[in-house]
Amino acid sequence: MEALTLAELAAQARERLDPSVWDFIEGGAGEERTLAGNRAAFDRTWLRPAVLTASVPRLATTILGREWAAPVGVAPLAYHTLVHPDGELATVRAAGAAGLPVVVSTFAGREFDELAEASAAPLWLQVYCFRDRDVTRALVERAARAGFEALVVTVDAPRLGRRLRDERNGFRLPPGVRPANLPDGDYDSPSGHARTEFDPGLGWEVVDWLRGLAGLPILVKGVLGATDAERALAAGVDGIVVSNHGGRQLDGAPPTLDVLPEVAAAVSGKVPVLLDGGVRRGADVVAARALGADAVLVGRPVLHGLAAGAESGVARVLEILRDELVDVMALAGIEDLGGIGPDVVVTGGRAPE
Ligand code: FNR
Repeated sequence: MEALTLAELAAQARERLDPSVWDFIEGGAGEERTLAGNRAAFDRTWLRPAVLTASVPRLATTILGREWAAPVGVAPLAYHTLVHPDGELATVRAAGAAGLPVVVSTFAGREFDELAEASAAPLWLQVYCFRDRDVTRALVERAARAGFEALVVTVDAPRLGRRLRDERNGFRLPPGVRPANLPDGDYDSPSGHARTEFDPGLGWEVVDWLRGLAGLPILVKGVLGATDAERALAAGVDGIVVSNHGGRQLDGAPPTLDVLPEVAAAVSGKVPVLLDGGVRRGADVVAARALGADAVLVGRPVLHGLAAGAESGVARVLEILRDELVDVMALAGIEDLGGIGPDVVVTGGRAPE
């Protein structure tokens, strides 16, 4: 049966996936408080309609000079090939057809060149900085040559968070699932590898260093407060992604929606602000816009779509979000994204159980 919501698609994916792969995707760090908090923050956020305002919603927006068909992109996710052999190729095809960008992970399972050829929308590279800077340099140069348009440096991972589900499952990457754009190495244990190889001494100078490699715009992913937003601006970033890594890094980090207003206030429109973590319906996109995000990135649901139906499954994820967004905007009396102000949201009440 065709899924009508992202939750239904997730259920379909779960049926198809090996339980340890499902846990790798779904899990967070530690007790998964932050993972749960991301969703809870959206669940206690309500939308107040403006009535008797005839509207035909317009979804398009411009981010870093490029039009997005809707304020939604695909968050960087390692190893799409873990859930389907087409991997990122299917994802970029589906997103490109929908006019939506993809942030391709450092740990993508397909090569940048073939992704760039297959995509009809902007591709950005998510960058992890390794101890060996030459590895990162080669990665960035490869993406730039392929035509990627921006770099998103993940700053919440001086090391990988402890994913207890993966530890208990003894999770290992199956043969054939490998980072296609990194040098050969021992990648059987994604967390084991990254725990030793990420550069734990990274500082804000990385922004200049990355810009010097390819001259591409630089966004930082993993900012959760005004102070770091100000530091990021001072370092010259071109955009900020409010993210707690989908609850996979610091368990106890705040829900992204809760800290979005202070980040947006600190940034005050100087650069785009994106948010990820727990976005699962059109209403969540409107809530994030209302509280200061220019756009959102969607993570796990994309892998659910890929597992449930390859390229058409990812297309369905994006279509559901788009349709819900149109529906919510029409019912809330919002004509275009600029019309989504803070007065649209009502917060504080508890969601019904
Ligand atoms: C991630 N995320 C992530 N982030 C990143 O910067 N580089 C990466 O390689 C990955 N890989 C990755 C794999 C998997 C399986 C998941 C679930 C997440 C984090 C991701 O970009 C994003 O921050 C969250 O997934 C957003 O939250 P939701 O939408 O999954 O709730």
